[in-house]
Amino acid sequence: MQQLGLFAHLTHKANLRHTRYGWLRLTPAYSVHLVQDVLSQITPHDTVVLDPFCGTGTTALACAERGIPVDTTDINPFLLWLTKTKVGAYDSAHLTAFRSNAQYVAQLIENSGGNDIWTPPIHQIEKWWSVDVLRILGGMMGFIRRISDFCSEKVVDLLKVAFCRTMIAHSSASFNHQSMSFKTQNNLPLFHRAADDMLMTWQAVVEDLYISAQSKVQTKPGIFLCDARKLSTVLPHDFYTCVITSPPYPNRMSYIRELRPYMYWLGYLCDGREAGELDWQAIGGTWGVATSNVGRWSPPETRAIPYPEFSGILAKISVKSDLLARYVHKYFYDMADHINDLFLVVKSGGSIYYIVGNSKFYDVIVPVEAIFASMFSERGFVDVDVRPIRKRTSKKDLYEYLICARKP
Ligand SMILES: C[S@@+](CC[C@H](N)C(=O)[O-])C[C@H]1O[C@@H](n2cnc3c(N)ncnc32)[C@H](O)[C@@H]1O
Repeated sequence: MQQLGLFAHLTHKANLRHTRYGWLRLTPAYSVHLVQDVLSQITPHDTVVLDPFCGTGTTALACAERGIPVDTTDINPFLLWLTKTKVGAYDSAHLTAFRSNAQYVAQLIENSGGNDIWTPPIHQIEKWWSVDVLRILGGMMGFIRRISDFCSEKVVDLLKVAFCRTMIAHSSASFNHQSMSFKTQNNLPLFHRAADDMLMTWQAVVEDLYISAQSKVQTKPGIFLCDARKLSTVLPHDFYTCVITSPPYPNRMSYIRELRPYMYWLGYLCDGREAGELDWQAIGGTWGVATSNVGRWSPPETRAIPYPEFSGILAKISVKSDLLARYVHKYFYDMADHINDLFLVVKSGGSIYYIVGNSKFYDVIVPVEAIFASMFSERGFVDVDVRPIRKRTSKKDLYEYLICARKP
């Protein structure tokens, strides 16, 4: 394999901070440069793009900016809302209303939240935000909820994005570990006022959004809540000429873990049970009930994964952990369902581009890229080609790959 570096420009870190791509920087995002590279390879004429794993909407936005028709799906309604907001067209009336309402929120921050407080039902919420910060956030959200009934949806959505950025910037949570941690809040200077810091964040974020929302989008993406295993029940058949996506990887990363605070504040989650249930629907999910369900999971019907060493890999993992072996098995079982259905919605001659990462469980490498390639071939895709793109982390053996194929 050629020597690959840790190319920051191929990850979400490179997603341009002060553009729409940076509106909420979340871990699932892949690089817009990767999408742009792929889009530059295809002829725009008659192109219709699909991203079945929308995430933060990188593919949808890159296409919308270039005037390329695109549809995108995801199982997480919050991410679809974020995508809809990122690809929206904002005129000067929207932007003026956004700014004047944001000014009102700034006054609420200065007055430590005001009287109309709304906070979400997050378990042990005091670990996430100090009392002062929470009171201000509650006042901000109370206001945003109140104006939602009579203010333009686009204006409210921009306020919600600005709220999310301020809320997370002033949270004590740290997402750097597999398990989350909380910073202690007792190192603050004696005369520190949470309101002063939050006001600075809010004003910077509002200005950032005000400027970046003026950039032009040329097409309106189709955005659908849909399980990627059942695309053909929602999307037109034999239609898409190009699929560009990064599916979840089998690396035990739970999107819900990082997205929870946003989802609670914006009303997409009410309790921990719901969070676990949603992650159980997600391919590769591990949050809450998702993990206990995986521990009991066995394939409902026999379906051979067409990679000759697959059962050997599972056997090696199960020596160390039965749970992880089931997790990997279920991941590919679900992906086989997805690929099966994907074939139905891709047009004959259409190309697919999948960005995937391999995984390691104990000392057992799971060659995700090769297993995907075998599943694409088995389903009937041709010209299947796997190219390494970059090293994923400083850990040895972990790479990201681009898999390309074509429907004959
Ligand atoms: C790696 S992320 C996609 C990141 C995206 N390319 C971006 O730039 O933000 C994978 C996405 O797949 C979604 N997903 C997981 N299981 C799914 C399923 N069964 N159907 C549809 N989407 C699913 C997750 O919610 C997540 O948003």
